[in-house]
Amino acid sequence: SKSYNITLLPGDGIGPEVISVAKNALQLVASIEGFKVAFEEMPMGGAALDAVGVPLPDETLNSAKKSDATLLGAIGGYKWDKNEKHLKPETGLLQLREGLQVFANLRPATVLPQLVDASTLKKEVAEGVDLMVVRELTGGIYFGKPRGFSTNENGQEIGFNTEVYAAYEIDRIARIAFETARKRRGKLCSVDKANVLEASMLWRKIVTALASEYPDVELSHMYVDNAAMQLVRNPKQFDTIVTNNIFGDILSDEASMITGSIGMLPSASLGAAGPGLFEPIHGSAPDIAGQDKANPLATMLSAAMLLKYGLGEEKAAQRIEAAVLDTLNRGFRTGDIHSAGHKLVGCKEMGEEVLKSIDSKTPAS
Ligand code: NAD
Ligand code: IPM
Ligand code: MN
Repeated sequence: SKSYNITLLPGDGIGPEVISVAKNALQLVASIEGFKVAFEEMPMGGAALDAVGVPLPDETLNSAKKSDATLLGAIGGYKWDKNEKHLKPETGLLQLREGLQVFANLRPATVLPQLVDASTLKKEVAEGVDLMVVRELTGGIYFGKPRGFSTNENGQEIGFNTEVYAAYEIDRIARIAFETARKRRGKLCSVDKANVLEASMLWRKIVTALASEYPDVELSHMYVDNAAMQLVRNPKQFDTIVTNNIFGDILSDEASMITGSIGMLPSASLGAAGPGLFEPIHGSAPDIAGQDKANPLATMLSAAMLLKYGLGEEKAAQRIEAAVLDTLNRGFRTGDIHSAGHKLVGCKEMGEEVLKSIDSKTPAS
């Protein structure tokens, strides 16, 4: 039977809590669907800094490169916040994304009928929202040079960064976005700041030039400040959004809240070739870490994206997605999505209930 190697990067804070739950789900659906998964757990982020002194050890990157896919929990925490830049957990995550060349980050935000009441938006605004943020992940201001600290002519300390995009970087992310929109509802909104930034002017030019290759996709453009506003005014107007690294970071957190919680949003980071990286969009949540309070569903759904986009195991992916819905239907809620009339559970119990749902939905053979 088929066999896959999966690198697990639990990381920091709630990372290990949500990864242990998602690992069990992967194991279970693999056994049901008749394939094997072998896990290699590697240190990453603050955990790696404490263990070996760097946020992304070579062994960890190599494991991710040679495995079929990587599932990451989260990295970061107060303990390392004052570290020099090259010794920050976040730097390790950027090195991992760059090392794997995963330039396309898919972040779906779907308001599940079961969770409409968990959204902070009015029911009629939130219900039915189903959008996909396609975030450029290995370029822009996160990686642009020059960057650093210096002193200006008045002797003032300065910190500086560069927003830079080459044409090929825009072209390849835009193609992924057009393809994504084509498989969804055929609407693509490109979000930029082309009224001010040169990098955005080029972005808009290149995205516009591609439109003729995708006549079935309806392309529009929006400035990022307006997009931030429109997301809470009328999120249903969006189908697929394509945007740069930093705007995508911010807008996807905003979009997550429409769905009820950042603890619900998964992501897939893909390159042109080679293995993908799959991670919830949330961070290590130091405020609730170690208390068994984290919502593991974003990581469960990231595991489903890993199965679908990373391994091509679509049926196994659907089993996890269906089980998440079934668990919500049975009334289980972690604190972040809890409301009156539902059963408040911790991370572990939520994970166990999803496993039960996977089992109960399996036709007896
Ligand atoms: P965060 O996403 O960790 O937390 C923001 C808020 O959302 C917190 O109140 C937290 O308790 C809550 N939250 C997040 N995930 C949750 C979950 N699964 N269930 C329930 N509640 C959840 O963002 P932050 O506080 O800005 O950052 C904390 C640390 O995480 C920082 O070090 C940051 O750099 C890092 N970070 C890492 C990643 C990543 O690993 N991909 C992403 C974002 C932030
Ligand atoms: C995310 C995070 C990261 C980012 C940080 C931790 C580097 O916020 O995955 O959204 O900004 O990309
Ligand atoms: Mn983020």
